[in-house]
Amino acid sequence: MRLTYTSDVWWKNAVIYCLDVETFKDGNDDGVGDFRGLTQQIDYLAGLGVTCLWLMPFFPTPNRDDGYDITDFYSIDPRLGTLGDFVEFMRTAHDRGLRVIADLVVNHTSDQHPWFQEARSSKDSPRRDWYVWSDTPEPDDPSKVPFPDKENSFWEYDEGSGQYYLHSFYRHQPDLNVGNPEVKDEIARILGFWMELGLSGFRVDAVPFLIENIDPKLANPHEFLADLRAFMMRRNGGAILLGEVNVPYKELLRYFGDGLGDQITMCFDFIGMQQAWLSMAREDAAPLAAALRERPKPPKDCQWAIFLRNHDELTLDKLTEEERQEIFRAFGPREDMQIFGRGLRRRLPTMLGGDLRRIKMAYSLLFSMPGTPVIFYGEEIGMGENLDEEGRMAVRIPMQWSEDGGFSQAEPVREMAAGSFAPDRVNVADQKRDTNSLLRWFQLLIERYRECPELAWGEYTVLDSGHKAVLAHRSDVDGATVVIAHNFCDTAVDVQLTLHGLERCYLTDLLVDETLEVSAESTVRVPLGPHGCRWLRASPPELPPEDASAKAM
Ligand code: NOJ
Repeated sequence: MRLTYTSDVWWKNAVIYCLDVETFKDGNDDGVGDFRGLTQQIDYLAGLGVTCLWLMPFFPTPNRDDGYDITDFYSIDPRLGTLGDFVEFMRTAHDRGLRVIADLVVNHTSDQHPWFQEARSSKDSPRRDWYVWSDTPEPDDPSKVPFPDKENSFWEYDEGSGQYYLHSFYRHQPDLNVGNPEVKDEIARILGFWMELGLSGFRVDAVPFLIENIDPKLANPHEFLADLRAFMMRRNGGAILLGEVNVPYKELLRYFGDGLGDQITMCFDFIGMQQAWLSMAREDAAPLAAALRERPKPPKDCQWAIFLRNHDELTLDKLTEEERQEIFRAFGPREDMQIFGRGLRRRLPTMLGGDLRRIKMAYSLLFSMPGTPVIFYGEEIGMGENLDEEGRMAVRIPMQWSEDGGFSQAEPVREMAAGSFAPDRVNVADQKRDTNSLLRWFQLLIERYRECPELAWGEYTVLDSGHKAVLAHRSDVDGATVVIAHNFCDTAVDVQLTLHGLERCYLTDLLVDETLEVSAESTVRVPLGPHGCRWLRASPPELPPEDASAKAM
């Protein structure tokens, strides 16, 4: 594939790194991370190989939902720095070739936002219709509220003005009425503002909730997304919308804009993620294989975003109760590890018992599943969680830079992990010096992922591995092929794969020094260690493997 093309459509094989400025690096030693601290770590991020940073909300906030409750969309939380610091950060990131996207949280505002204060001041307020009000809300289903520990309804009565307002999330987060043309214009203005300061796009928070307030009798809710995307593309044709769209596959294509692909550029694969965890719990590749087979193909230039963990709970909401319980038993049996009755508030390495082989296999899977990988800060060094922190904050703890923490000279904003995941056991400085570390593994996986555009761009086929624990797939593009195999169980296995069209080809292992040969009957025996993984590039006997790569023209 031509690099001139893959770099235009850069998001299709990007490596996205999500971080919270507040917990990444403190530059002024007040215990809170900030833009100055983050800027000083840009070389670390560039050296890791990631290509795009996703910043969690960094706007002024009363901080009752860790910044997802915004009081001003056009400035910076003063604890994190100033607009000047932001611009300096952006310039430095761009200098090192990193793109930056940020959370776009416009399903709701904080109830402290001046817009809501104005809206609630009277029924006649010019901003009244910026939010969603009702005298007699439809009775709602408490089992559907996203945060059942704190809420049991989507409606809250506003004493002052005598009506109920809608809040899809916490009651202090009133929903914006995005069906109102002024609100729609304002949202475009927010996008335009941050793009002017250099952002390459947005991670759009809670997309299905965002458009559900638009009355379908008045307008097609999906037109809102198409208009937003069109606005963004007019301003910058290379900008993206990365959508939090946790809906079943059959409903998902609509969010990409069906065949047109003119709405959300990339959607997180929540279904594949949950099935991957089920496969890991069962040591059985079947659930993930079925998801990959069933997953619809995104429209041209759209893409799946692949993740195993993020900043929220590990949601298992699309599994059956029985499947969820299986995962709870395997990876989070204690009640304090579970949350909202549907998820786990743990990071991946603790769930996998700190077993480096399993952890490395899980990330190899992440980087080789068809799509664009998204990682959460600290995953690259195998950070754990701190369950003493409230709710989802357990996984949003300060980055562990060195033995003594290295995040701040002051008492950090949140507690770090303890025990065998404490900074003296898990930190960046040590892992940089250790060639077997998880950090080095990430660097290798990222390098190989970038060298194998087949993985993101190719047509993939899930192969029949003949072994319950082994997921094997191949990705083909422009006559180049990579074959991938993962062993979900803890004993060594040999599988025989049939690779049509690759008769007598060599398969060069891209992770270790080994070459396999495909027989004239198109079969190959692939040995896999316990929790082993193989990334194999196919090349005909007369071609060195580099020349068989999809990187060649
Ligand atoms: C989704 C975000 O990922 C989550 O962290 C937040 O609490 C809700 N949206 C509400 O904004």
